Amino acid sequence: MALRKILTQENEILHKVAKPVKVFDEDLWELLDDMKETLLKSTGVGLACPQVGVLKRAFVINLNGAYFEVINPKIVKTEGRQKGQEGCLSVPNRYEDVVRPKKVTIEFVDRYNNPMSITATDFMARAFCHENDHLNGVLFIDLLDKKKN
Ligand code: NI
Repeated sequence: MALRKILTQENEILHKVAKPVKVFDEDLWELLDDMKETLLKSTGVGLACPQVGVLKRAFVINLNGAYFEVINPKIVKTEGRQKGQEGCLSVPNRYEDVVRPKKVTIEFVDRYNNPMSITATDFMARAFCHENDHLNGVLFIDLLDKKKN
């Protein structure tokens, strides 16, 4: 395992749409292992592939003692709304209120391409939405009122 360099907002890779994972091999597992190590050494709760310069649709989340590897996610259901503070390892030292769904259901696959599903609420729902946005080239600061950017 190795630490990966986390790109920051000026890097164009963070603004591109990532591609679905099609090959579930040792290269993917090494990438995911590196992302886990990088995330656990950071102050963040999530890390998406584009943040380490890889345009693949996958992210990892470490929150409240639970660790998730999420590949090829699809948000299939959202409910309600919540407003709360958000930050990003790619946008250092900036924290802003962002509106997100209160509850989300995400379908995805694990590192062996097994189908999985999670329903998350509150801050966990926020984290899933934030990381999923990274796969579409969207940063949380893109969601703020234009006047605040
Ligand atoms: Ni982020």
